[in-house]
Parts: sequence; structure tokens; C-alpha cells
Amino acid sequence: MSAAQDKAPLKVAVAGLGTVGQGVVRVLARNAELITRRAGRPIRVVAASVRNRSRTRDCPLEGVELHDDPLALAGCDVDVVVELMGGLELAQSLVLAALENGKSVVTANKALLAERGDVVFAAAEKSSGALAFEAAVCGGIPVIKALREGLVANRIDAVIGICNGTSNFILTEMARKGVAFADALADAQRLGYAEADPTFDVEGIDAAHKLTLLASIAFGVRPMFASVYHEGLSRIQARDVQLAQELGYRIKPLAIAKRGATGLELRVHPTLVRNSHLLASVDDSLNAVSIFGDAVGQTVYIGRGAGSEPTASAVIADLVDLARGQISGDPLGQPVGGLHAGTVLPLGEVRSASYLRLRVDDAPGVLRSITAILAELDISVEAILQKEPREAGAATLAIITSVAPEARHAKALEQVLALPFAHADYTRLRVEHFDED
Ligand SMILES: NC(=O)c1ccc[n+]([C@@H]2O[C@H](COP(=O)([O-])OP(=O)(O)OC[C@H]3O[C@@H](n4cnc5c(N)ncnc54)[C@H](OP(=O)(O)O)[C@@H]3O)[C@@H](O)[C@H]2O)c1
Repeated sequence: MSAAQDKAPLKVAVAGLGTVGQGVVRVLARNAELITRRAGRPIRVVAASVRNRSRTRDCPLEGVELHDDPLALAGCDVDVVVELMGGLELAQSLVLAALENGKSVVTANKALLAERGDVVFAAAEKSSGALAFEAAVCGGIPVIKALREGLVANRIDAVIGICNGTSNFILTEMARKGVAFADALADAQRLGYAEADPTFDVEGIDAAHKLTLLASIAFGVRPMFASVYHEGLSRIQARDVQLAQELGYRIKPLAIAKRGATGLELRVHPTLVRNSHLLASVDDSLNAVSIFGDAVGQTVYIGRGAGSEPTASAVIADLVDLARGQISGDPLGQPVGGLHAGTVLPLGEVRSASYLRLRVDDAPGVLRSITAILAELDISVEAILQKEPREAGAATLAIITSVAPEARHAKALEQVLALPFAHADYTRLRVEHFDED
């Protein structure tokens, strides 16, 4: 221990002492001895920046020089700048300035990396400093490390995950309590799982940011956030969650990246997952990622995808790697210049099964007409549930179909909804089958 303690420290500046920044400083202080031993030298926060310097912080700040201009950190005498402010413009300026000054950068900012990746990763490649971002994807779960290191021998065929804890919490509440989306969202906000403006989480944008980064590392493609299809949760009704359960499925907010023969699938949407799959039982605000490699098969990683110390755990893992000199100059696991442009399969060509909830007149021949439309489009019915009419004359049907291209599902739905007995109230969701289903 003493040998490590006596070595020159890795000097760190932290931009942002909010939820994650305070967690980083707190965990570094609390576990200083074991982190020093594992890193081979001390990791010392010597500078930090905040907007409001008079606010009390829940972390020890003795010996930390406090700035209110984050850009000042890029000029400080430090080895690493940790960017934990969030946002795009200022964060990008800081990250680029730090890299230009030859400092390494650690960031949890998935929005910045997914949306401005081309600029930021190119700057990292040119810099003598490194760029690391384990905390940007699924918080405390070391999924980037798994892809870049543990699974480096594999051709990765798919990465499928629950990458947004807020969405998972909402769908879990809906399943557990039978409540509507709006009530589950209000619960999530009351308990601190959702922001006052929940758009990024419930519309799948946050998960799309993470999927962009996972796909880049898994498939060696440039960050393609603009090509990630994302769909939110707000159209899901409590009865969809219930019907899915009766059919043997859970609805989960999946982020899916798959390598196909003609292109990549990059999509984020609520998805039916069979009860028997591990991801179906990952509840509340937990995250989980399944990675499919050609040599290893499926591996699954589960844990806290957000929160102060879970996210700090990932930030510090990067700092320890930097202290040991173990981070390569290739932030995406291969030379940035060698990344492929990547071809994303048009959504219409993506193949999946469908869950269809329909409200129809309670009349003879209804089922026959619906199955005839599906059969005409070469889609078969794998399971069906018919609910007794709750109000006079209208029944609910829940159907799980066979796998077909998206475009054919869309056509089938359009034709079914045009039938004279079909009501406008419907839900269509995708069903994901895993190999072992
Ligand atoms: N929270 C999580 O669980 C989590 C998980 C994974 C990744 N992340 C990512 O981590 C980053 C930080 O998230 P967070 O939840 O810790 O955010 P936060 O609680 O809002 O903290 C942001 C910090 O940055 C400072 N800051 C913001 N704008 C600034 C400006 N213009 N000038 C100077 N300082 C500024 C704030 O200063 P004041 O405190 O003075 O306002 C605050 O200390 C984000 O990129 C987020 O996406 C967060």
C-alpha cells in the first residue's frame, strides 16, 4: 500500500458536482485506500467546477480548487478532466479543449458522444490524452468494458438491452399495480426516477444515445444516432401490460442493435419479451444488457444504470484504468479512422413478431376477417386472447403474430383497422424472440 501511496497521483479535475460528480468525489474519498492500491497510485481530485459555488455539496472538497468556468479546467495542471455537467455545447467545448491540451477525458455524457461523436472521437484520436466513457452507457454496469475487453475475441451479432431505468420503472409499475402510463410516470417523478421533463427517457431518446455508442463499439461503425429508430411508451395502456402477461410476456423498453446480412438494426421501442427470458424479470429501475457473441453465445449484465454512486463507480473504473496507463487511444475499441459508415436497415425491412390489441364489434365473422387479412400477407396467428365484452357490443382481441417484415405488419394493421367492425382504439407492439425462446 505505502508504495502505491507514495507514487505521483493521477490529478483530476471534475466539471460538475451534481448527482454524479459528488458521487465520484465521495467514493474516491471513502475508498481511497483500496482504489490507490488497485490503481498503483493515488487518484486525487484537485479542481472542480460548478455553476453555483455557494451551494453545499455532499462530498469532501478540502484541497479542491473550485471554479465557476468549466473551461478553466482544461488549462489546469491535471492529467484528467472528468466532464459531468451534461448538455452539448459547453460540454463539447470543454472536452475538445482538454483533449487538445493533451489531457485525458472521462465523461458520462451519452448525448454528447452519440450526437457529436464524429467530432469528439476524432479529437480523441488526435490527442495524446485518452477518452473514456464507461459511465455513459448503463451507469454502473461495465458493459463497454465487457464489449471492448472480455468479449474482444467475438464477432458481436446483437446487443439487446434495457438501457433506461425510468422507462423500466414505469412499465414495472404498470404491471405491478395495473395503473395507467400517466400514473406510473407521476410515481416515477415523485420517487426521483424521472425528471420533471421526462421526454428523453420515455420517448426512448436516452436509450437511443446509449444504443448508438453500444453499436459503435460492437460493430465498429461510426456513431449513427440519427439513424436509430425510437418509439416511446405513452401509447401503452394498462390493459396491454395485463394482456401481454396473460399471453406469457412482459413489456420491456428494449434497445436493440443487431447485425443482419443486409444492414444493421438499430431501434428502441417497448417490446414484448417472453416471461422465460432473463430480461423479462429485470424490473424497477434496473438496467440489463444481453450481448450475443459468435464464440461466447449470450452473456447478460444486470445492475443499476443510473444514480450517484453506481454511475460514479463506472467513472472511477475509467480513472483507475488511466492511472494504470491501461486505456488505449481508441475510444471505440478500434482506430476511429477505421470505423465503417454502417448501413442501417430501413424500418420496413426489420423482421419481428407483432402484438396487436384490437377493439372490435362483438359480431360473428370478425375473427375470420382479421385472420384472412393476416393470411393474405403471409402472417400467421401464434396466439390469441378474446376478452368478454365489457361494454355492450365491443370485444377486445389480443393477437401475437408470426415474424414478418415491419412493412407487412403495417399493411395488415391498416387493412384490419379499415374493417367496418374495427374501432380506432388499438395498440401494436413488437415482440422479440431470443434464440432460446
Ligand atoms: N444522474 C445519473 O444517474 C446519471 C447516470 C449516467 C450518466 N449521467 C450523465 O452524467 C452527466 C451529469 O449528470 P448529473 O445527473 O450528475 O447532472 P446534475 O446533477 O444536473 O449536475 C450537473 C453539474 O454540472 C454543473 N453545471 C451544469 N451546467 C453548468 C454550467 N453551464 N457551468 C458550470 N457548471 C455547470 C452543475 O452545477 P450546479 O450544481 O452549481 O448547478 C452541477 O454541479 C450527464 O451527462 C448525465 O447524462 C447521469
